[in-house]
Amino acid sequence: MTDSKVRHLVEEAFKAKERAYAPYSNFRVGAALLVEDGSVYTGCNVENASYGATCCAERVAIFSAVADGKRSFKAIAVVSDYEGFTFPCGICRQVMLEFDIPTVIVADSSGAYREYALKDLLPNGFKKSAVREGE
Ligand code: THU
Repeated sequence: MTDSKVRHLVEEAFKAKERAYAPYSNFRVGAALLVEDGSVYTGCNVENASYGATCCAERVAIFSAVADGKRSFKAIAVVSDYEGFTFPCGICRQVMLEFDIPTVIVADSSGAYREYALKDLLPNGFKKSAVREGE
């Protein structure tokens, strides 16, 4: 991906972070998902008084794209207020694998970014082909 495309995605993730609902952790996260057709879906973390009901920013972005009929993705960017790079949690990596999102961009609070292949962030992941083999 070109530097300007990645920067645009990171900027969208920062805007989404502003909408985070994180009254318990005060850790605001934003994500921006680039769809194959060029559209971008964003998400923020949405926490809950029953902590386990919290949903991460990445999954909010992915689920809202899927709910809108999109299933083919190019990349996802993740940002937070943390000064270091914000890496996606294990559950979100698994959801990224489900939809074969090949590239994960992590940014730090200054906007500097790194690009990773999902296969390097989740090696030997549990794939849908394992449970759908009989189809
Ligand atoms: N969080 C995300 O939104 N994405 C991640 O990849 C890591 C964690 C959220 C969940 C919770 O609202 C807060 O960050 C602290 O864990």
